[in-house]
Amino acid sequence: MRVVELIRKKRDGGELSSDELRELLDAYTDGDVPDYQMAAFLMAVYFNSMTEQELGVWTDAMLHSGDVLDLSDVPGPHIDKHSTGGVGDKISLILAPLAVTAGLKVPMISGRGLGHTGGTLDKLESIPGFDVNQSVQRFKELVRDVGCGLIGQTGEIAPADKDLYALRDVTGTVECIPLIASSIMSKKLAEGIGGLVLDVKIGSGAFMKSVERGRELADSMIQIGEAMETPVRAVLTDMDQPLGLAVGNALEAAEAIDVLRGEGPSDVVDVSVALVTEMMAVARGSVDRDATRDQLVSALEDETALEVFREIVEQQGGDPAVCDRPREVLPTADDVVPFEADEAGSIRAMNAEEIGLASLDLGAGRMTKEDDIDPAVGLVFRKKRGDTVDAGEPILDMHINPGSDVESCRRRLGEAIEIGEPADSPPSLIIERRTGEGS
Ligand code: URA
Repeated sequence: MRVVELIRKKRDGGELSSDELRELLDAYTDGDVPDYQMAAFLMAVYFNSMTEQELGVWTDAMLHSGDVLDLSDVPGPHIDKHSTGGVGDKISLILAPLAVTAGLKVPMISGRGLGHTGGTLDKLESIPGFDVNQSVQRFKELVRDVGCGLIGQTGEIAPADKDLYALRDVTGTVECIPLIASSIMSKKLAEGIGGLVLDVKIGSGAFMKSVERGRELADSMIQIGEAMETPVRAVLTDMDQPLGLAVGNALEAAEAIDVLRGEGPSDVVDVSVALVTEMMAVARGSVDRDATRDQLVSALEDETALEVFREIVEQQGGDPAVCDRPREVLPTADDVVPFEADEAGSIRAMNAEEIGLASLDLGAGRMTKEDDIDPAVGLVFRKKRGDTVDAGEPILDMHINPGSDVESCRRRLGEAIEIGEPADSPPSLIIERRTGEGS
């Protein structure tokens, strides 16, 4: 294989064969193709995309670059959810136990927060004792016995993605739909799942800033699922303001538990219920949406889902009392300071990316993978988009510790939150569903 020939072929708009793509990826993961050649290839993909055939082969090669879990000895259906990342997105903590109440098995391998977006593992680890590092054997037992395991990567899942993602990060090739789709799908399909629901976030706090781009990404991942005979559905949801009221790890864990007690903010409930409904549709082929919504809302209100979460927490070493007294058991910040409106009016916009970065100023997130986070700090909103405020009225509370950069946080919040005349029509929370049949 002459790598330069493959780069030229992609640069000139040609289609690479299955053998060429597999050889290229394997040689790269073996260290036989240097980063500069792979970077050139990725840039050629950035400009010329990949055909459906190429995307399927490339994803399959990435998926088989490492371990693939085999859940065939654990009764299913095994359905997972993946979010493309947002601010205040604590859905996984609610969705996993809620899906278990509906008879699904949820083998969930999650990631950590990076940049302005949070990560499920950090939120779970804010629960004292909760251990996200479980062996494959233990993970399977959790899925079999509890219905769900909530863990970080075990062994080497899709190692090609780790190298490619790091290279994309420094070569301006992250924002490329086939590369994002293959990256996400290779990791998810390596979990050995029977179906997947994607929460494709759209808006200021998301990778995809427009509905059109979100649709393209969703359809691309659905197409990969079809090629791998794994049913995939997507829900496009609003990320033009933070989800729920809390941003920050322990604060979000507490809010997730509120939802599991039937008391949480309605947007978090609605997205959780919509995604579990889609998971059931993936498992069964179709679903009665109204009846399912009633069933899932009841499982929150009567705390059936909370009891599943308690079992998960207990089995993974966490303190189950968090389910009864979340704000006593979870770590809390030393101080709580309000952020006030500097003028009266309606909240027209809340730039979710800037708000994510503001929480990072307090210590809630990390800019590089090596950074430490402070689980206790973050933001809790009292007002959201569309609410009216008086001058001097608190919009949110900053939960701070001695390491927090409160001034920078305030500056960013001032830029992120726009107050004025009421905005025309805010985007809907659940923007649309995509099933692979063009809708
Ligand atoms: N998330 C991923 O896992 N991969 C990407 O390329 C982008 C977001």
